[in-house]
This record gives sequence, structure tokens and C-alpha cells, in this order.
Amino acid sequence: MHIFICSKCGAQFLKWSGKCTECDAWGTVDKDDCEVQTSESVSAIDLSSVKAEQVLKIKTNIKEIDRVLGNGIVPGSLILLGGDPGIGKSTLALQMADKLKDKQVIYISGEESMQQIKLRMDRLGMLGNNLKFLPETEVSTIVSGLKKYKPAFAVIDSMQTIRFSQINSDPGSVSQVKAGVAELVNIARKLNIAILIIGHVTKEGVVAGPKTLEHLVDVVLYFEGDKYHYFRFLRATKNRFGSTNEIGVFEMGDKGLEQVKNPSESFLANRDLKISGSVVSSIIKGTRSFLIEVQSLVSQTSFGYAQRKSSGFDLNRLSVLVAVLTKRCNINLYNKDIHINVVGGLQANEPATDLSISLAIVSALKNKPIDPNTVIFGEVGLGGEIRPVPYMEKRIKEASNLGFKKVICPVNKTIKSDIKITQVKNLSQVIKLLF
Ligand code: TYD
Ligand code: MG
Repeated sequence: MHIFICSKCGAQFLKWSGKCTECDAWGTVDKDDCEVQTSESVSAIDLSSVKAEQVLKIKTNIKEIDRVLGNGIVPGSLILLGGDPGIGKSTLALQMADKLKDKQVIYISGEESMQQIKLRMDRLGMLGNNLKFLPETEVSTIVSGLKKYKPAFAVIDSMQTIRFSQINSDPGSVSQVKAGVAELVNIARKLNIAILIIGHVTKEGVVAGPKTLEHLVDVVLYFEGDKYHYFRFLRATKNRFGSTNEIGVFEMGDKGLEQVKNPSESFLANRDLKISGSVVSSIIKGTRSFLIEVQSLVSQTSFGYAQRKSSGFDLNRLSVLVAVLTKRCNINLYNKDIHINVVGGLQANEPATDLSISLAIVSALKNKPIDPNTVIFGEVGLGGEIRPVPYMEKRIKEASNLGFKKVICPVNKTIKSDIKITQVKNLSQVIKLLF
């Protein structure tokens, strides 16, 4: 059987055509022979006879990274680190490399020169005794380098600069990067080297070269956050060795990235206690609970349709909450512009933030502040009912740890706590209670 492959984007077709219908390139579709070889001698392994080997993970001793990775780096694995340009990916990779002091690390960069890396190392106060540098972009040369030095950990900065001249297509094209990464997976497994590949996120928000790569690697990490804020968040969207729910919280400072020891405290640090439209809510990321501040601003629409803008909260969800407030609580918002902001650049996409967002809107509309010592969370249903959310006890515990005096949350008979808890059934009831 023959299949036809586009050398630019890697799309496959059953028939030849002059133009690739996927990427619109001309003259790139070519025949690819794929003969299925059959072999008589095949034997499956009895799973019950296999002994699970305890893999010793390499700890970076940066707690926030180890947690997201699932307790450290697995030798021989491939990690893809994505994120916007300038967010701090190279800095993070270099700091990880530095922490693996007793392990040999090789830093391969096609993006930056030796001088630039050295400057960054000085800035981070790194000695780099365990670090070797290889300014290279060609995959076959990178593989030779890895074979020669056999490091425990290698960083490739970045995926977009990789070339693989054995593949007959444009340098940096999807098929080259794909084949290049596949080759690196091979060598990582064979020599037991953990490889971290940095990739930039394109405008569409996917790691460029894009989803085509995610299935090849073991772990996909994203480093994100607002460039203009200090906070940076590391999360995994795929992890063969651990959960994808955990996040790591960092702050970008003069000396590189620093772990945030008490995230809730930092997120709430600059809160103005007396303004309307501000509510403290609770979110859960992996095994931890965080307190965050959500803000709302409501103003008269001066022209045309009412505006709904949101940063850190889903816009569709906001429309639903506005509709519930209008229909179930008789609060008119049709001629009001509404702005929502989750402070610190965090994404609060959990249903548990519904109640705090709704009350922030009402507080802003009525220009009445909510008691700053209160933490509010709960899901809001279409009928205006407040629905229970997971990990209520954990959320309340965090509120009490940070010295909050009161929690407003959904009804849960079994909850015990040392601070005051008001359990609420529907949105109109809470609004009556607070305003
Ligand atoms: P960088 O790691 O180069 O980002 P990326 O590899 O994701 O493109 O770092 C980006 C920014 O971080 C850069 O604008 C400078 C800033 N920065 C600091 O604020 N402090 C530091 O110690 C370092 C090394 C960088
Ligand atoms: Mg970089």
C-alpha cells in the first residue's frame, strides 16, 4: 500500500495531489512506501510475571517543580516545557539544571549564545560546575553530544530552532521537528537521559510544532502567568508519572524565579479592604487550596451593547451568572458594563468561584463592600441555587489558617470548623443576607 505525505505539515493522504489540503502548500505531497512486514515469531509477556521496578526519580529540590512533575524527574523521560516568549522558561530550566548539583547536565541552545547564558547564570548567582553548554540545533549532532557526555539531564532550548537534515523538508517544519523529537525520545530511553525541551506557545495558544508533539513526550508542562505580574504558574497538561492537577507557584525577581512559600498570603497581599466589588474566594489546585481575590467593576453602559470583560475567569460562565442574577434575583444588569478580574494573574475556572463572582458583581453594583474577613465559595446553578463543591473542609481550613473570621459556602451537614460558617441555599438568600 502507498500513502502520500506532505513534507511540510506531515498530513497523510491516500491519493497524490499537487496541493496539500491541510497546509495549502504546493508540490509538497509525496509518495511514502509503507509495507507491512509480517513476522511469525511473536510472543506476548505474562503481566503477572513482571516485577515493577522502583524508578528512582531525580529530585530538583525545588518543591514547586517536583510536585508538578510527580515527585521529581524520571530518568529517560522527555519533558516539554511550553509558554509565552519571555515568561521565564529558560530561567526555569537553568535553575533546575543548577539544582541537580551532583548530576551532569548539558544545556543545548540554538536561541542564545554562550555569553547570554553566562550573563543569566551570573544574574542567578550560579556557578554551573555541573553544566556543559552546546550551541547546536542539528538533531544528529545533539544526539552525538548526548552519546559522548551521557548527562543525567539535558535541556534543549528551544524546539523551534531544531533542525533534522535527515528528513527531507524545510528546516523547522513540523515534520522535521516531529522526527527530531522522536529521535530524541529514542536516545533518551536508550541512554537513560531525562531531556527537557523548551517550546514557545504560538498565537493559537498551543506549543508550536504543536499538538503533534504532545503524544510523543512523557510530560507536557506549561509555564504561564501575566508578564506584567510577578507570579508565574507551572502546570502539567500531561504527565505519565503523576497527576496533572498540581500547580507550582513562582515569583520572578531580580535573582530569577523564587518559590512562593505561602501563595494565598501573597495573592491577598495588596488587598484594599474597603472597596466594593472585592471578594475573597477559594480554589483548589491539585492537593492544595488557595485563597484568591476576585474583583468586579460595574458601570453604566454609555454606548451600544453592554460590555462584559474578564481576566482570569471564563467569559461564557460570566454571561450565565449575569443571566441568573437578572432572572432569579431581579438584579438588572442589561445596561451595565461588567469587568471581572482575578488578582495575581491566576485562572479561576472552577465552578466554586461562581458565588464569589456573582457577589462581587452585586457588591460593585450597589457600591457596598463585603466584610473583608469573609471567604466565599460555591457553585451557582441556573435556578440560582448554591451547589456543593468538592474539598469544602480543605478550603475552610485554609481560610482559618489565614485568619479569616467567616466563611459563606454551600450546605454541607458534616462540616466542622473553628470559624463561623454560614451555609446558604440560594443566591437571593445570600444577597439579602449581605446587602
Ligand atoms: P527568560 O527565561 O529568557 O524567558 P523565556 O525563555 O521564556 O523566553 O526570561 C524572561 C524574562 O525574565 C526576561 O524579560 C528577564 C526576566 N528576568 C528577571 O526578571 N529576573 C531574572 O533573574 C532573569 C534571569 C530574568
Ligand atoms: Mg528562552
